[in-house]
Amino acid sequence: MNWNSDLYTQKHAFVFQYGEGLLEVLDPKPGERILDLGCGSGELTQRIAESGATVIGIDSSADMLEKARTQFPNLEFYQRSATEFSFDEPFDAIFSNAVLHWVADYETAVRQMVKALKPGGRLVIEFGGKNNVAIIVDAVARQLEKFGYPFTLFWFFPSIGEYTPVLERYGFAVRLAQHYDRDTLLSDPETGLTDWIEQFGGYFFENVTPSDKTAILEAVNVALRPVLFRDGHWYADYKRIRIIAEKSL
Ligand code: BEZ
Repeated sequence: MNWNSDLYTQKHAFVFQYGEGLLEVLDPKPGERILDLGCGSGELTQRIAESGATVIGIDSSADMLEKARTQFPNLEFYQRSATEFSFDEPFDAIFSNAVLHWVADYETAVRQMVKALKPGGRLVIEFGGKNNVAIIVDAVARQLEKFGYPFTLFWFFPSIGEYTPVLERYGFAVRLAQHYDRDTLLSDPETGLTDWIEQFGGYFFENVTPSDKTAILEAVNVALRPVLFRDGHWYADYKRIRIIAEKSL
Protein backbone atom coordinates (compact mmCIF):
# COMPACT_ATOMS: atom_id res chain seq x y z
CA MET A 1 0.00 0.00 0.00
CA ASN A 2 1.15 3.55 -0.73
CA TRP A 3 1.22 5.68 2.39
CA ASN A 4 0.55 9.37 2.25
CA SER A 5 3.10 10.39 4.88
CA ASP A 6 1.98 14.04 4.87
CA LEU A 7 -1.66 13.15 5.56
CA TYR A 8 -0.36 10.79 8.24
CA THR A 9 1.60 13.50 10.05
CA GLN A 10 -1.07 16.18 9.64
CA LYS A 11 -4.17 14.18 10.52
CA HIS A 12 -3.13 10.90 12.11
CA ALA A 13 -0.35 11.84 14.51
CA PHE A 14 -2.43 10.16 17.22
CA VAL A 15 -0.98 6.84 15.99
CA PHE A 16 2.45 7.63 17.38
CA GLN A 17 1.09 9.82 20.20
CA TYR A 18 -0.80 6.84 21.62
CA GLY A 19 2.40 4.82 21.16
CA GLU A 20 3.96 6.86 23.99
CA GLY A 21 2.01 4.74 26.48
CA LEU A 22 3.49 1.60 24.99
CA LEU A 23 6.97 3.12 25.23
CA GLU A 24 6.52 3.35 28.99
CA VAL A 25 5.85 -0.38 29.00
CA LEU A 26 8.94 -1.00 26.87
CA ASP A 27 11.01 1.03 29.34
CA PRO A 28 14.14 1.11 27.16
CA LYS A 29 17.48 1.29 28.97
CA PRO A 30 20.81 2.83 27.97
CA GLY A 31 22.91 0.29 26.12
CA GLU A 32 20.03 -1.94 25.11
CA ARG A 33 19.61 -2.91 21.47
CA ILE A 34 16.01 -2.43 20.33
CA LEU A 35 14.13 -3.05 17.10
CA ASP A 36 11.21 -0.75 16.24
CA LEU A 37 9.18 -2.96 13.92
CA GLY A 38 7.00 -0.85 11.62
CA CYS A 39 8.60 2.42 12.64
CA GLY A 40 6.59 4.55 10.19
CA SER A 41 7.85 8.13 10.20
CA GLY A 42 10.20 7.43 13.10
CA GLU A 43 8.81 9.49 16.00
CA LEU A 44 8.78 6.56 18.42
CA THR A 45 12.15 5.30 17.16
CA GLN A 46 13.54 8.69 18.14
CA ARG A 47 11.94 8.47 21.58
CA ILE A 48 13.55 5.06 22.10
CA ALA A 49 16.92 6.51 21.06
CA GLU A 50 16.51 9.31 23.61
CA SER A 51 16.58 6.68 26.35
CA GLY A 52 20.19 5.86 25.45
CA ALA A 53 19.29 2.56 23.78
CA THR A 54 20.60 1.66 20.34
CA VAL A 55 17.59 1.44 18.07
CA ILE A 56 16.96 0.26 14.52
CA GLY A 57 13.70 1.11 12.75
CA ILE A 58 12.26 -1.05 9.99
CA ASP A 59 9.21 -0.40 7.83
CA SER A 60 7.92 -1.70 4.52
CA SER A 61 6.87 1.73 3.23
CA ALA A 62 9.49 3.70 1.28
CA ASP A 63 7.41 6.86 1.66
CA MET A 64 7.29 6.61 5.45
CA LEU A 65 10.99 5.75 5.65
CA GLU A 66 11.88 8.77 3.59
CA LYS A 67 10.02 10.91 6.11
CA ALA A 68 11.70 9.09 9.01
CA ARG A 69 15.18 9.64 7.56
CA THR A 70 14.46 13.31 6.87
CA GLN A 71 13.15 13.92 10.38
CA PHE A 72 15.77 11.83 12.19
CA PRO A 73 18.91 11.67 10.04
CA ASN A 74 21.01 10.27 12.89
CA LEU A 75 18.93 7.13 13.29
CA GLU A 76 19.23 3.84 11.45
CA PHE A 77 16.24 2.84 9.28
CA TYR A 78 15.82 -0.02 6.82
CA GLN A 79 13.10 -1.01 4.40
CA ARG A 80 12.05 -4.47 5.57
CA SER A 81 8.72 -6.21 6.07
CA ALA A 82 7.66 -7.87 9.32
CA THR A 83 7.89 -11.27 7.63
CA GLU A 84 11.33 -10.76 6.05
CA PHE A 85 14.04 -9.27 8.16
CA SER A 86 17.19 -10.46 9.81
CA PHE A 87 20.07 -8.75 11.56
CA ASP A 88 23.46 -10.17 12.53
CA GLU A 89 23.19 -9.12 16.16
CA PRO A 90 20.19 -10.11 18.27
CA PHE A 91 18.00 -7.56 20.09
CA ASP A 92 17.16 -7.09 23.76
CA ALA A 93 13.65 -6.04 22.81
CA ILE A 94 11.27 -5.69 19.88
CA PHE A 95 8.72 -2.88 19.99
CA SER A 96 5.83 -2.53 17.57
CA ASN A 97 2.99 -0.01 17.67
CA ALA A 98 -0.09 -0.10 15.41
CA VAL A 99 1.49 -2.27 12.74
CA LEU A 100 0.88 -5.98 13.14
CA HIS A 101 -2.74 -5.82 11.96
CA TRP A 102 -1.26 -5.27 8.47
CA VAL A 103 0.57 -8.60 8.64
CA ALA A 104 -1.73 -11.41 7.53
CA ASP A 105 1.06 -13.99 7.65
CA TYR A 106 1.47 -13.52 11.36
CA GLU A 107 3.03 -16.92 12.01
CA THR A 108 5.99 -15.96 9.85
CA ALA A 109 6.22 -12.60 11.62
CA VAL A 110 6.24 -14.31 15.02
CA ARG A 111 8.98 -16.71 13.86
CA GLN A 112 11.05 -13.78 12.62
CA MET A 113 10.59 -11.89 15.88
CA VAL A 114 11.60 -14.80 18.08
CA LYS A 115 14.67 -15.40 15.90
CA ALA A 116 15.73 -11.76 16.16
CA LEU A 117 15.66 -11.64 19.99
CA LYS A 118 18.24 -12.69 22.56
CA PRO A 119 17.11 -15.43 24.95
CA GLY A 120 15.08 -13.60 27.61
CA GLY A 121 14.52 -10.72 25.19
CA ARG A 122 11.15 -8.98 25.37
CA LEU A 123 8.40 -8.35 22.89
CA VAL A 124 6.19 -5.31 23.46
CA ILE A 125 3.47 -4.99 20.84
CA GLU A 126 0.13 -3.27 20.38
CA PHE A 127 -2.13 -3.31 17.35
CA GLY A 128 -5.76 -3.65 16.24
CA GLY A 129 -7.55 -6.44 18.11
CA LYS A 130 -10.73 -8.37 17.40
CA ASN A 131 -13.57 -6.10 16.18
CA ASN A 132 -11.24 -3.15 15.71
CA VAL A 133 -12.96 -0.40 13.70
CA ALA A 134 -15.83 -2.84 13.05
CA ILE A 135 -18.40 -0.05 12.85
CA ILE A 136 -16.43 1.74 10.12
CA VAL A 137 -15.60 -1.48 8.27
CA ASP A 138 -19.23 -2.65 8.29
CA ALA A 139 -20.48 0.69 6.97
CA VAL A 140 -17.93 0.73 4.13
CA ALA A 141 -18.70 -2.92 3.28
CA ARG A 142 -22.43 -2.20 3.16
CA GLN A 143 -21.99 0.76 0.80
CA LEU A 144 -19.51 -1.05 -1.46
CA GLU A 145 -21.98 -3.90 -1.81
CA LYS A 146 -24.83 -1.48 -2.49
CA PHE A 147 -22.79 0.04 -5.33
CA GLY A 148 -21.98 -3.44 -6.70
CA TYR A 149 -18.36 -3.76 -5.59
CA PRO A 150 -16.83 -6.71 -3.74
CA PHE A 151 -15.58 -6.21 -0.21
CA THR A 152 -12.49 -7.85 1.29
CA LEU A 153 -11.08 -7.17 4.74
CA PHE A 154 -7.33 -6.92 4.40
CA TRP A 155 -6.53 -6.31 8.06
CA PHE A 156 -5.97 -8.99 10.63
CA PHE A 157 -7.56 -8.17 13.99
CA PRO A 158 -7.04 -11.20 16.23
CA SER A 159 -8.36 -12.00 19.66
CA ILE A 160 -5.98 -12.81 22.50
CA GLY A 161 -7.06 -16.43 22.10
CA GLU A 162 -5.91 -16.50 18.48
CA TYR A 163 -2.62 -14.66 18.87
CA THR A 164 -1.05 -15.83 22.12
CA PRO A 165 -0.99 -19.58 21.31
CA VAL A 166 1.10 -18.75 18.24
CA LEU A 167 3.55 -16.79 20.38
CA GLU A 168 3.80 -19.71 22.79
CA ARG A 169 4.23 -22.25 19.99
CA TYR A 170 7.28 -20.40 18.68
CA GLY A 171 8.99 -19.95 22.03
CA PHE A 172 7.55 -16.91 23.79
CA ALA A 173 6.30 -16.83 27.37
CA VAL A 174 3.34 -14.44 27.39
CA ARG A 175 3.48 -12.15 30.45
CA LEU A 176 0.53 -9.90 29.67
CA ALA A 177 -2.25 -9.87 27.09
CA GLN A 178 -4.97 -7.22 27.04
CA HIS A 179 -7.80 -6.45 24.67
CA TYR A 180 -9.35 -3.06 25.32
CA ASP A 181 -11.58 -0.41 23.74
CA ARG A 182 -9.96 2.88 22.82
CA ASP A 183 -12.33 5.12 20.92
CA THR A 184 -9.97 7.42 19.07
CA LEU A 185 -10.65 11.06 18.30
CA LEU A 186 -10.00 11.94 14.67
CA SER A 187 -8.46 15.34 14.33
CA ASP A 188 -10.52 17.08 11.66
CA PRO A 189 -14.05 17.86 12.87
CA GLU A 190 -15.39 17.93 9.31
CA THR A 191 -13.43 15.37 7.34
CA GLY A 192 -12.06 13.16 10.13
CA LEU A 193 -13.83 9.97 9.11
CA THR A 194 -13.13 10.44 5.39
CA ASP A 195 -9.47 11.25 6.14
CA TRP A 196 -9.14 8.05 8.15
CA ILE A 197 -10.69 5.89 5.42
CA GLU A 198 -8.57 7.60 2.74
CA GLN A 199 -5.37 7.11 4.72
CA PHE A 200 -5.82 3.54 5.86
CA GLY A 201 -8.56 2.04 3.70
CA GLY A 202 -7.22 2.77 0.23
CA TYR A 203 -7.49 -0.92 -0.68
CA PHE A 204 -11.27 -0.83 -0.35
CA PHE A 205 -11.47 1.45 -3.37
CA GLU A 206 -8.92 -0.08 -5.71
CA ASN A 207 -11.48 -0.86 -8.42
CA VAL A 208 -14.03 1.80 -7.55
CA THR A 209 -14.64 4.74 -9.91
CA PRO A 210 -13.82 8.18 -8.44
CA SER A 211 -17.47 9.27 -8.54
CA ASP A 212 -18.66 6.08 -6.82
CA LYS A 213 -15.93 6.49 -4.22
CA THR A 214 -17.14 10.01 -3.44
CA ALA A 215 -20.74 8.77 -3.18
CA ILE A 216 -19.74 5.82 -0.97
CA LEU A 217 -17.74 8.02 1.40
CA GLU A 218 -20.63 10.47 1.61
CA ALA A 219 -23.08 7.64 2.42
CA VAL A 220 -20.72 6.24 5.07
CA ASN A 221 -20.47 9.70 6.67
CA VAL A 222 -24.25 10.05 6.75
CA ALA A 223 -24.78 6.54 8.16
CA LEU A 224 -22.13 6.86 10.88
CA ARG A 225 -22.75 10.42 12.03
CA PRO A 226 -25.28 9.33 14.70
CA VAL A 227 -22.88 6.64 15.93
CA LEU A 228 -19.33 8.00 15.70
CA PHE A 229 -19.75 11.79 15.80
CA ARG A 230 -19.79 13.20 19.33
CA ASP A 231 -19.12 16.65 20.83
CA GLY A 232 -18.15 18.08 17.46
CA HIS A 233 -15.67 15.32 16.56
CA TRP A 234 -15.44 12.05 14.74
CA TYR A 235 -14.21 9.00 16.64
CA ALA A 236 -12.92 5.69 15.28
CA ASP A 237 -13.98 2.60 17.23
CA TYR A 238 -10.50 1.28 17.96
CA LYS A 239 -9.97 -1.94 19.92
CA ARG A 240 -6.39 -2.65 20.87
CA ILE A 241 -4.57 -5.85 21.63
CA ARG A 242 -1.48 -5.30 23.79
CA ILE A 243 0.97 -8.10 24.49
CA ILE A 244 4.16 -8.36 26.51
CA ALA A 245 6.08 -11.59 26.05
CA GLU A 246 9.60 -12.91 26.62
CA LYS A 247 11.66 -15.23 24.51
CA SER A 248 12.19 -18.34 26.59
CA LEU A 249 15.76 -18.80 27.87
C1 BEZ B 1 -5.26 0.58 13.88
O1 BEZ B 1 -4.28 1.16 14.33
O2 BEZ B 1 -6.03 -0.07 14.58
C2 BEZ B 1 -5.52 0.61 12.42
C3 BEZ B 1 -4.90 1.54 11.65
C4 BEZ B 1 -5.13 1.54 10.32
C5 BEZ B 1 -5.98 0.65 9.76
C6 BEZ B 1 -6.62 -0.27 10.52
C7 BEZ B 1 -6.39 -0.27 11.87
